[in-house]
Amino acid sequence: MLPRPWSNITRNLFTPSLSRNHENPLGLPLNNARVPPQIPRRGPISGGLPPKRKIPNVKHTVLVSSCKGGVGKSTIATNLAVSLSLLPQRLRVGILDLDVFGPSIPTLMGLKNVEEPGLTQGQSSPSGALIPITNHGIPTMSMAYLLPPAPQSSSSSSSKSDSEPPTNEDTPVVWRGLMVQKAVQQLLFQTDWSAAQTASSGLDVLVVDLPPGTGDIPLSVGQLVDVDSTIIITTSDILSLSDVRRGVAMFRKLEMPLTGLVINNSYFICPNCTERHYLFGGNPNDEQNMFAKGVQAMGMGGDKIVGELPLVVDVGRGGEKGIPYALSGRGDARHDAASKIWQEGMKTIAERIWGDIQTKTTKV
Ligand SMILES: Nc1ncnc2c1ncn2[C@@H]1O[C@H](COP(=O)(O)OP(=O)(O)OP(=O)(O)O)[C@@H](O)[C@H]1O
Ligand SMILES: [Mg+2]
Repeated sequence: MLPRPWSNITRNLFTPSLSRNHENPLGLPLNNARVPPQIPRRGPISGGLPPKRKIPNVKHTVLVSSCKGGVGKSTIATNLAVSLSLLPQRLRVGILDLDVFGPSIPTLMGLKNVEEPGLTQGQSSPSGALIPITNHGIPTMSMAYLLPPAPQSSSSSSSKSDSEPPTNEDTPVVWRGLMVQKAVQQLLFQTDWSAAQTASSGLDVLVVDLPPGTGDIPLSVGQLVDVDSTIIITTSDILSLSDVRRGVAMFRKLEMPLTGLVINNSYFICPNCTERHYLFGGNPNDEQNMFAKGVQAMGMGGDKIVGELPLVVDVGRGGEKGIPYALSGRGDARHDAASKIWQEGMKTIAERIWGDIQTKTTKV
């Protein structure tokens, strides 16, 4: 037993010392009240946000979202845009890169270090708007086009700077919330898609690549834009389940049409055999699979699985070269089994999204 003065000291050291007058600078709920943060209401009566509106010169907006980073969202966004444009309807399709902090559409579309975009002049609507930059017949807009290339660091002379000079995708965006909101609104509503080389009468579909997670940017888009379809990209492991759950909850809360999930990098087929090697947590089509059970429970199983894509080495290589594999691998007779499944899968995803947009039966 410790002498009295010591026991007082140890008690004071290990007792939480939350003062009643704590200023709570972040506005966090106190007293364990656990009040969840509220999404602001829309509409004039609540005095909240304005009603959702269409992006100028765009008929339909499709969001590509993932609640986890690095699961293939930008790769799928670019290939989806190409696949939509290759449908028999000959759709005019564009890509908006809203991953302000980590834009990768310029690389994936072969548009690294392009000139800063021009601005529309005169009577065009909206006037003084950004003119999209086109490659592979797909107009694109990205925060990266508006940034100068990152300065070359003198200390890294033996690393990337030797082989590959820094691009504007390497420029860090160090912004606070309000600046990001402003940039997102400008990219959304101050880009003139009818000024794009290949789309003088505007776009049929704009594919929007969102940053991972359920942060400010997806939330702003959900509140401001009249969206026609949303897909969530995921891998089929248990860790992804809670991310998917958060994303689904957010889109439902924002009353956005949720077409479904795309399971990416589900399996690998090695060139020497025809067996599927599942990469994450087994076969997601197996009823006993934990991931399958999880998505079923949140109402995202069955036909809400819009596609399941294998890992294909050439898909990644295509992205690095700036040529989406849906374009470069088209009609290639040398395709191995996985490439064929991937090509067919991407086409099916594009058909499903276009079908959903047409019937508008996906409101949740
Ligand atoms: N089906 C696939 N087969 C092979 N490689 C793939 C596939 N899908 C994505 N990749 C590769 O995985 C990596 C991550 O993809 P990508 O950048 O599209 O993910 P992301 O979700 O957009 O990431 P971030 O959250 O950082 O924006 C890239 O190297 C890409 O080439
Ligand atoms: Mg990305």
